[in-house]
Amino acid sequence: MSVAEILESMDYGPAPESRAEVDTWLDGHGRQFGHFIDGAWRQPAGGEWFESRDPATGAVLAAIAAGSAEDVDQAVAAARTAQRQWAKTSDHDRARALYALARLVQKHARMLAVLETVDNGKPIRESRDIDVPLVARHFYHHAGWAQLLSAEFPDQVPVGVVGQIIPWNFPLLMLAWKIAPALAAGNAVVLKPAEYTSLSALRFAEICQDAGLPPGLVNIVTGDGSTGAAIVTHPGIDKIAFTGSTEVGREIRRKTAGSGKKLSLELGGKSAFILFDDADLDSAVEGVVDAIWFNQGQVCCAGSRLLVQESVAAQVIDKLKARMERLRVGDPLDKGVDMGAIVDPVQHDRIRSLVDQGVKDGATLWQADQPCPTDGCFYPPSLVTDVAPASALAQEEIFGPVLVTMSFRTPDEAVMLANDSRYGLAASVWTENINLALDIAPAVKAGVIWVNCTNQFDAAAGFGGYRESGFGREGGREGMIEYLKPAYEATMQPLTPAAPATAEPEMPHANLLVDRTPKLYIGGKQARPDSGYSRPVLDPTGRSLGLVGEGSRKDIRDAVEAARKATGWAAAPAHGRAQILYYIAENLAARSDEFARTLAAMTGCRRRAANAEIRATIDRLFCYGAWADKFDGAVHGVPIRGVAMAMHEPVGIIGIGCPALPALLGLVSVMAPAIAMGNRVVIVPSTAHPLSATDFYQILDTSDVPAGVVNIVTGDRDALLATLAVHDQVDGIWYFGSAEGSTAVERAAADTIKRTWVDYGRARNWSSPQQGEGREFLRHATEIKNIWIPYGE
Ligand code: NAI
Repeated sequence: MSVAEILESMDYGPAPESRAEVDTWLDGHGRQFGHFIDGAWRQPAGGEWFESRDPATGAVLAAIAAGSAEDVDQAVAAARTAQRQWAKTSDHDRARALYALARLVQKHARMLAVLETVDNGKPIRESRDIDVPLVARHFYHHAGWAQLLSAEFPDQVPVGVVGQIIPWNFPLLMLAWKIAPALAAGNAVVLKPAEYTSLSALRFAEICQDAGLPPGLVNIVTGDGSTGAAIVTHPGIDKIAFTGSTEVGREIRRKTAGSGKKLSLELGGKSAFILFDDADLDSAVEGVVDAIWFNQGQVCCAGSRLLVQESVAAQVIDKLKARMERLRVGDPLDKGVDMGAIVDPVQHDRIRSLVDQGVKDGATLWQADQPCPTDGCFYPPSLVTDVAPASALAQEEIFGPVLVTMSFRTPDEAVMLANDSRYGLAASVWTENINLALDIAPAVKAGVIWVNCTNQFDAAAGFGGYRESGFGREGGREGMIEYLKPAYEATMQPLTPAAPATAEPEMPHANLLVDRTPKLYIGGKQARPDSGYSRPVLDPTGRSLGLVGEGSRKDIRDAVEAARKATGWAAAPAHGRAQILYYIAENLAARSDEFARTLAAMTGCRRRAANAEIRATIDRLFCYGAWADKFDGAVHGVPIRGVAMAMHEPVGIIGIGCPALPALLGLVSVMAPAIAMGNRVVIVPSTAHPLSATDFYQILDTSDVPAGVVNIVTGDRDALLATLAVHDQVDGIWYFGSAEGSTAVERAAADTIKRTWVDYGRARNWSSPQQGEGREFLRHATEIKNIWIPYGE
């Protein structure tokens, strides 16, 4: 073609990237890869292999070892040995190792980008300009956390051996998100890449060798879901970090329930792209392209639901169609290509069948009249209109290049539509009105909000979701916490049943409950239990102290409903919440004698001990009165011209199972941090010692606590917690009881992928400031939302 003809047609010519170095590397390995265990390549114990293919052509790239339980076992043993030494290395030495990894990633950047593109099908422009630079950035950032570990996390120790299971959409980047913080914090890892995309992880294994990492610190075991399952259930693993589908995340939560394994889940999403009529529409249309056609839409936080204000909906759709006409789909190694191949025919079929079903159900599908290769695994950019908010296309994660659009009229309606999803990973908000953007951002239930931008990531800003998008954050300080645990945990002993009192209580309690039957406390009112039953409360010598209500599922539902209505509490100024906590303390102080009497009678403790518990409880209320307006978020200096604001938000409604002892201090130690951070709580006191809680609602009544903020349901604690754990309006569960109860809570919470915090039947020292109060409680009481705000016109 002559230059004149090119100038006439303005067609892009092909601009292919060479894959020679990748082929040389694959050939060097004989196109066959074992596991990387204890610093060396190992044949699979079961002798089985599977093929990894290039999705753009279907060609086999290499044979990959299929990992068995035995392979996982060897990897865990190697990791355990390596971890013991690694945890003892100095912060600086760990920092140097991570720095070496970052430098080596940069030195091999182009090869890694080509390898990723060949294995995954993503355009080389993306792997070269986004994935690999972010990988290096992650190792640099975490070299920094390694250097600062002792100074910044003085009371924490590494978790130990971490099992990491990653997906295929960003193979090397997800590896970096997992391995960098784990190593920085002093852990060793057993990582399993996804079966479609193992190659960049295997190349990374060589980088670990080149960086001089101790053998066994990073182990790569390849395989499919069954290999993943062997990692999940291995008893030698202390934490599982998983990114992938919500379905598998749920299964992992069930399987790890009660094991004490720490867990972080980064799951699916159906993120909203909210476009207001005053936005710069052309920029927004480019934003949509990034949001849904980046990486063929195979992005957990893809802006797959376009919510556009009705007044500009038609105009936006026209602009979008015009833009789609110019998107090029084809060879991912071509530098002029916008969209490459879908990772595997299985995914391709899944996308097609979801879209076909949607069209049968009445949706309208539009695809540009542009060439889309028919060989290989390609799916064209697609726009779907006429979808009902409840339809499968609007609710299910399609995980492909399919944009679903709906319109709204008012900001409230936009928020309602955005939150009409079981997921809560990300959202973007497009408007020229900063007041509107910052009003909408906190209202959308998602872990990341991008204002006038989309798909921004950085190692300094935490990433992760709410609800069925999982829990835990990756990146930033909060990401490091996922790979650490409090040092005191090593000293916790198993809970022992309360020892029988050796002496008669010091004071008679015949008149303790005269003419008074404690009730439940729901929505700011005393309520009779729906069951109509009561249960006796005994002192340690077996004498009856009276009756409390036998709470049931119905009472729990009522309590959650009351909590749901108390929305003003989260929005109340922190100063106001602090005032109320101080007021509760003041009112408790005024009734110290009476509370001490109940405590002594109920638990059989000495009067002096009861008085000390009351003093400690008042102190604790002051502690959270103090914290209410001081547990601040952060402003991250991310590499855009702008900021990422990490805001602390309340988790929402937290169901809490209280420790049996200390009865009053335990109750207040869990209630106060939760409400200080703006949560609403449904508290279930211990079955044995509920009377401090039922007395406590009188204090709440006189302390201006708004109705529904604190609800108290007495009865069989563990049974009531099981009901709370499956309730889909409850956002988090804390449980401080037996090992069996902890297992039941974690298992039940898997249904709705709730955040849980349990003690696995270990005794916490509630009087100690390390174990009984402070930042750990506040972290469990908050979600971190990162709001990205670019500067400039
Ligand atoms: P998947 O969740 O099955 O795979 C993710 C990883 O988990 C892979 O390494 C896989 O081998 C492993 N795995 C599978 N079953 C396992 C088990 N029982 N125990 C432990 N590990 C297991 O995801 P899949 O099937 O590849 O994709 C299905 C859908 O999941 C996608 O269409 C998409 O909707 C969603 N997905 C979401 C991702 C995200 O980043 N949030 C990433 C990948 C998939």
